[in-house]
Amino acid sequence: MTSHLTFTPLAIPTMMHIFSKLVGVAAATQVALAAPQHGYGGGGRTLRFTNSGTFQISVFEDLHYGEAEDLVWGPQQDVNSTRVMNSILDDEHPQLVVLNGDLITGENTYKQNSTNYVNEIVQPLLQRNLAWASTYGNHDSDFNLSRYEILQREQSWTLSLTRQDVHTSTAGVSNYWLPVHGSNGDQKVPELLLWFFDSRGGNYYQQTTSDGKSVTQPNFVDQSVVDWFTATRAQLCSKYGKDVPSLAFVHIPVNAMLAFQQSKNDTGVRLHYEPGINDDDPLAQQGYAQGQGDVSGTVATYGGQDIPFMQALLDTPNLISVFSGHDHGDDWCFKWDSKLPGMNLTGNGLDLCFGRHSGYGGYGSWTRGSRQILVTEQQLKHNIAETWVRLETGEVSGSVTLNGTYGRDYYPAVADTSSS
Ligand SMILES: *[C@@H]1O[C@H](CO)[C@@H](O)[C@H](O)[C@H]1NC(C)=O
Ligand SMILES: *[C@@H]1O[C@H](CO)[C@@H](O)[C@H](O)[C@H]1NC(C)=O
Ligand SMILES: *[C@@H]1O[C@H](CO)[C@@H](O)[C@H](O)[C@H]1NC(C)=O
Ligand SMILES: *[C@@H]1O[C@H](CO)[C@@H](O)[C@H](O)[C@H]1NC(C)=O
Ligand SMILES: *[C@@H]1O[C@H](CO)[C@@H](O)[C@H](O)[C@H]1NC(C)=O
Ligand SMILES: *[C@@H]1O[C@H](CO)[C@@H](O)[C@H](O)[C@H]1NC(C)=O
Repeated sequence: MTSHLTFTPLAIPTMMHIFSKLVGVAAATQVALAAPQHGYGGGGRTLRFTNSGTFQISVFEDLHYGEAEDLVWGPQQDVNSTRVMNSILDDEHPQLVVLNGDLITGENTYKQNSTNYVNEIVQPLLQRNLAWASTYGNHDSDFNLSRYEILQREQSWTLSLTRQDVHTSTAGVSNYWLPVHGSNGDQKVPELLLWFFDSRGGNYYQQTTSDGKSVTQPNFVDQSVVDWFTATRAQLCSKYGKDVPSLAFVHIPVNAMLAFQQSKNDTGVRLHYEPGINDDDPLAQQGYAQGQGDVSGTVATYGGQDIPFMQALLDTPNLISVFSGHDHGDDWCFKWDSKLPGMNLTGNGLDLCFGRHSGYGGYGSWTRGSRQILVTEQQLKHNIAETWVRLETGEVSGSVTLNGTYGRDYYPAVADTSSS
């Protein structure tokens, strides 16, 4: 595999086949309800609002380390990705970094050292004593790369808060939640919850079919995870006596984002109301994939696999926004407040956002950057978050307030630029 890797998730719009085999297959669900002990993941850091009542997250999306490692350009683009992270973290001072999937490109790595890229990725975070939390993406699983081993490697640092809370065989790995406590030191009831979901995808580690091909992993949030989410959410509500406001992270976007993008006659993605780049059109959503890596080239057809997950998101009181990546050419946010064409679910005002492609690996050369999310204790009382993209150039792009009028508020358009 020496050719330039493209890994586009895009393709022609698909027929709506019902992928019945993959819908609603609820494996014997072992719901892991236990709240995290003191010390989440491998570590012990309690997330807290600052003394000025703010909590900021920097999202590094689609870093794609480890491409073409035996050629000059592969390692060079990883050096570039590290430069992006350092540059963003010199400009922004988050309390948490989220690595929101596709940390590594598994198609091209060797079994004996594929997980070592984690060491490289987390250097800028270790140097700044910054805690991080990951979701894994479709490129984080392949014949020579295991998302379980990525988790194990992460947990060798106490700064990693990534966990695996759901242990069914179909759940994937990065499904868990984190509490963020208030600046006043109240340990009992957090002010914010962060949910992390594994949308899986790619190929299973070290598995081949009888004809020697890699074995594809479904690329949507599994029913066992939806069951864990709804049960845990209810348990936390009763434990804390309220539905604590929350944010969620999942690598592959849900179908509502595609349905909104394609609803051009109604709204679509509008330059001044959903400011951002919108070049992956149509975007690739959960359940759909064209070629999960050039090993298998498998095509997966959308058939409503993410409906239970979307329903669970809509049923989550005080969930402010869900953040995804995967489609490197899109970085807008939209308010899902209607019944979108082709969908039965009706949005309730939940905001859905893309991050910005941060890595030099993976397809596309849109100016690299990182989505920032700022929550203040004041705004949280009204379920409001602010968000913007900090570009590698130092510029701020697409700064918006996710409040009740997002989608009706007028913002400057975002320039569609490329890194040199
Ligand atoms: C690394 O970044 C520089 C500056 O953006 C760019 O000119 C160069 O092409 C990049 N190299 C790779 C391999 O991505
Ligand atoms: C997996 O890694 C082994 C050992 O380094 C290597 O020989 C093989 O080519 C790799 N396989 C794939 C499919 O990348
Ligand atoms: C993995 O091994 C390959 C082959 O020796 C090497 O080119 C690459 O730099 C190594 N990568 C890491 C992260 O250790
Ligand atoms: C949008 O509206 C035009 C004019 O009414 C119609 O011809 C076209 O089919 C519509 N497109 C979609 C995607 O609904
Ligand atoms: C919407 O609901 C109808 C009636 O239950 C069903 O036939 C159809 O498949 C559903 N469509 C989608 C996209 O879920
Ligand atoms: C939402 O935020 C925007 C941008 O700051 C602002 O113009 C608008 O008035 C806010 N909406 C409400 C209801 O406060």
